Amino acid sequence: MMLRAEPAAGRSQFHESARAQVAGAATYVDDIPEIRGTLYAAPILSGVAHGRLLGINSSAALAMPGVRDVILAIDIPGDPMLAAFAHDEPVFAQHTVQHVGQVIGVVVADSVMQARRAARKVVCDIEPLPAILSVDDALAAQSYVLPPVFVKRGDAAAALARAAHTLNGELEVGGQEHFYLEGQVAYVVPQEQNQWLVYSSTQHPGEVQHWVSHALGLDNHAVRVECRRMGGGFGGKETQAGHMAVWSAIAAHKLKRPVKLRLDRDDDFMITGKRHPFAYEYTVGFDDTGRITGLKLMMAANCGFSADLSGPVADRAVFHADNAYFLQDVEIASYRLKTNTQSNTAFRGFGGPQGVIVIEAILGDIARTLGLDALDVRKRNLYSDELAAPSTSSGRTGQEKPVRAEPVEAKRRNVTHYQMKVEDNILEPLLSKLELTAQYRQRQKAISTWNKGSPVIKRGIAITPVKFGISFTATLFNQAGALVHVYTDGSVQVNHGGTEMGQGLNTKVAQIVADELGVAFAQVLATASDTSKIPNASATAASAGTDLNARAAQYAARNVRDNLAQFVAGLDHCGAGAVRFEGGEVITPDNTRPFTEVVKLAYANRIQLWSDGFYRTPKIHYDKTTLTGRPFYYFAYGAACSEVAIDTLTGESRVLKVDILHDVGTSINPAIDIGQIEGGFVQGMGWLTTEQLVWNDKGVLSTHAPSTYKIPATGDVPEHFRIELWPEPNREDNVFGSKAVGEPPFMLAISVFEALKDAIASARPARVQLDAPATAENVLKALKP
Ligand code: MTE
Ligand code: MOS
Repeated sequence: MMLRAEPAAGRSQFHESARAQVAGAATYVDDIPEIRGTLYAAPILSGVAHGRLLGINSSAALAMPGVRDVILAIDIPGDPMLAAFAHDEPVFAQHTVQHVGQVIGVVVADSVMQARRAARKVVCDIEPLPAILSVDDALAAQSYVLPPVFVKRGDAAAALARAAHTLNGELEVGGQEHFYLEGQVAYVVPQEQNQWLVYSSTQHPGEVQHWVSHALGLDNHAVRVECRRMGGGFGGKETQAGHMAVWSAIAAHKLKRPVKLRLDRDDDFMITGKRHPFAYEYTVGFDDTGRITGLKLMMAANCGFSADLSGPVADRAVFHADNAYFLQDVEIASYRLKTNTQSNTAFRGFGGPQGVIVIEAILGDIARTLGLDALDVRKRNLYSDELAAPSTSSGRTGQEKPVRAEPVEAKRRNVTHYQMKVEDNILEPLLSKLELTAQYRQRQKAISTWNKGSPVIKRGIAITPVKFGISFTATLFNQAGALVHVYTDGSVQVNHGGTEMGQGLNTKVAQIVADELGVAFAQVLATASDTSKIPNASATAASAGTDLNARAAQYAARNVRDNLAQFVAGLDHCGAGAVRFEGGEVITPDNTRPFTEVVKLAYANRIQLWSDGFYRTPKIHYDKTTLTGRPFYYFAYGAACSEVAIDTLTGESRVLKVDILHDVGTSINPAIDIGQIEGGFVQGMGWLTTEQLVWNDKGVLSTHAPSTYKIPATGDVPEHFRIELWPEPNREDNVFGSKAVGEPPFMLAISVFEALKDAIASARPARVQLDAPATAENVLKALKP
């Protein structure tokens, strides 16, 4: 049946899986009907943070009921090191263990519980070695997973020497557990002739394919990886989903049986990496108006025991240490520290939040020091087309550190410290609009009056902006492919290299394809990501999923449409350019035919009804040795105004009101975009308020379950939560005029952290030192005179 088609994009279409998800009918890896003979694996964990692995005794485990085997490093047919980019991480610990929770092997049994029970019976003989557990210890020992990076522009030392005011400060910001609702899981099914089918809950099927084939010693073509959807990834399944797949594959390879491995929540906490905790030291110089004139910033990322994605994560923190602000004379040192903890990884924002939070903290400090309004100070520092003050000297400070970026003078206040011109700046009008719609000034007055009459409960308010660079900083990843199939009944299937993790990528891709062919949204079905359909696809990450894959799919659909247009033009003797595809119809100057009829006719005339599409992001380039260039195609902008209350006796806090104005360009799907803004903001709130990871002095993560690790619940969502979209298309030529939305709103939650400091400042006038997360304990500590 032909559906009358309205334009699909630009409307709040339901998420393509929404109905199935609420009905429990959407398939996740653990829901896939199991093949007869499937076995279950459970990990054997190191109980020691750092030590020599002298021996492994499996006999008690092997004697347990249902146990089939214990799989260790000696069972790996290929490389015992993971095919991770730094090649510094073993598949299974061998010779040494490097963190509590490192996986030494897996027990395979007839049931999940049998495997888990037996895994605890494996006895590892480990001779402890000194462990590095803190950022301070790692800095002192120069314990790095990757060498430090230094970026500078102008002459920060000279600018600081000349500054009217200077401030020194320190800040610590904790990590964050991804807490995807669906835990890490893989199911590996042997196929004929040493070929492998891997079902993986992964943001990067191509990397899982690569890792599995590498560990099995096979060519990539022998391994096929499929992912229909994830129950959340948030960056935690960008690389680290590969571990489950590799471990299961090695077991499946040895036992010649299908093997499934689903981590339980506690193991997931103990094994997998999290958001990088950061520590900072800074000296900032500024004038009487609060304008920054010089900055020296040291940022130290706790990377855990291996590099994983720490290089690009720490790079992005450097790229976002400006957030929305022009930093003329600036020197940034970025350390990538190796500690004996889980290997930290991608997490929404990918280091960006760890860059943004420190400059926002610095601006809050400056405002409180000068007794100025923090929003005024922020506005004064925004990127603009104003001429920059002549720089001091652009020479080097002439000492210790190798400076890798060539110092270049900024002519206008619109060039970032990595030398990208900010061409699409909407910061000033966006902040000014939010200031009005959120009634910032009136509420600020009201809060100050209220605080005078309230000795125990204090309120605070803050507006912070975000400017987030969109594109993978590694230029090569900014490519994507898609396939569009039109069947003879006119129904359409689209497949692309991206993955669905709840963010609505498949929905947006289907909307774009529907409009390209002029058919109804319901006529287009998106199918599972599959390495045998789109090869070499990048991770779905960096918020670029829609930008890349919807464009590739649009091009694929356009190819099919062009084939059909040419065919119909031949029938009606008109130019192919005169053929329109709209409302489920194909329209020429002479005739209007249903799309389905045209498809049938075209098939009968041997016209190709399917095509591939390929897209690569234009304009971007970047030198990774100097961290300079144009790493981003464009910026996504936003701002949030948060009002909070603290209890000065207990340190407890609440977020009372949140107003957000966020820029998604022309929205492909407003409901999904607003959902991303809400979700990102609340997840950011969790990072900065209640989510605290605590390792004890033996390096054991003691907060490894929801009983001790507190993510935001529905009750934590502010009662007043107003979200408005900025009404302007992307100024760059991006699909539908849209902008990426997955990560940028996460950083809007920094307004909560700054509002908490505003509340604390009203209770104690001296300088506010608050570390993140602002748990009740940390708020109390900050309130101490
Ligand atoms: N939204 C949901 N519901 N679940 C997720 O796991 N991940 C976030 C964001 N939004 C995530 C999410 C992260 S870390 C990224 S990079 C983007 O979605 C990835 O998808 P996109 O590029 O299609 O926006
Ligand atoms: Mo998102 S952290 O780029 O997966």
